[in-house]
Amino acid sequence: MPLVPPYVAALSAAAPARAGEGPARDAAPVAWLDANENALGPSPRAVEAAREAAARAHRYPDASAAALRAALAAKLGVEPREVLVGNGSSELVELLVRTFVLDGEDVLTSAQTWPAYRLAAQVHGRKLVEAPMKARHGVDLEAIKKLLSRRTKLVFLANPDSPTGTCLLEAELTPFLDAVPKDTLVVLDEAYVEFADAPGFPDALALRRRYPNLVVLRTFSKVHGLAGLRVGYGVARPDVADYIERVRPPHDVNAIAQAAGVAATSRTPIARIPMMRRMDPSRGQRITNSQSRRPRRVPHPWASSDHIGFKSRRQRSSMGRSSARIPSLVTPSGGGDSCASRL
Ligand SMILES: Cc1ncc(COP(=O)(O)O)c(C=O)c1O
Repeated sequence: MPLVPPYVAALSAAAPARAGEGPARDAAPVAWLDANENALGPSPRAVEAAREAAARAHRYPDASAAALRAALAAKLGVEPREVLVGNGSSELVELLVRTFVLDGEDVLTSAQTWPAYRLAAQVHGRKLVEAPMKARHGVDLEAIKKLLSRRTKLVFLANPDSPTGTCLLEAELTPFLDAVPKDTLVVLDEAYVEFADAPGFPDALALRRRYPNLVVLRTFSKVHGLAGLRVGYGVARPDVADYIERVRPPHDVNAIAQAAGVAATSRTPIARIPMMRRMDPSRGQRITNSQSRRPRRVPHPWASSDHIGFKSRRQRSSMGRSSARIPSLVTPSGGGDSCASRL
């Protein structure tokens, strides 16, 4: 009898520890560019709330995260029973697959998008269907639409997408949503919504009124700088939220994360967003130039958020060599001729 199902045997272990990881990390001479962390850190208000909660760490957290859900509901203009919370939005991705995708049903997403969707399908032995991206690495809704089938239970779309940094606009999203069967859930992962300034960027919370099969995910990891506390959230219609709540492990969102989340919810650091944008490697040109001994333009066709694309393998390896001088952590993604590097 095999010890584990074949789809578990096929997985690789979570990322191994890396040089400088842990408390020594800030002192390490490495530019950690591969996780989209907020370089400004958390707000003092969230840190203070976390400190106060730490003093009561002998108590279990509120399993229902009632205060956090109430704060989020008030902020987002929804009912608390529509609010999802999780140990990072990545746990919510995993819970969505675990709760809703039955044996024989599929998860559909875009190739080269955030790998958590693929992983969530894999750990549950569910079939993942991936639509190719557009030539310039935008999510291709037409290609995704062609792959919709009676088996498609969940569609994951990151908007803005990670790592490509491209956005889906409302004008292209709504015809797609019209084409999706009502019993297929469409998950719009808006981890970076606060940074999206494209005209026509959809108001996903408002779209839920027209499309009750829409689930919106967000996180405290990015604009709020709380990635280390692991707290994400989302909004879904009440029956969907209720089923997730039944499956969600009790106490998965710890008390310190809940307290910091409540404090952060009271004020999105709007004032810091322009500064974060300035620090954003979408100014990939500048980063690339600074890494070159002889400053020169590296003609990448697109560069956005944390992702820089290259026209050829040669360009990609030259980026690898120059980034080694910084030094920085660069995660390659994609492959073949449309190779790309993830910063
Ligand atoms: C598309 C996307 N969603 C969510 C997250 C954040 O996940 P979490 O809330 O688990 O930190 C990331 C982080 O890289 C991401 O790229």
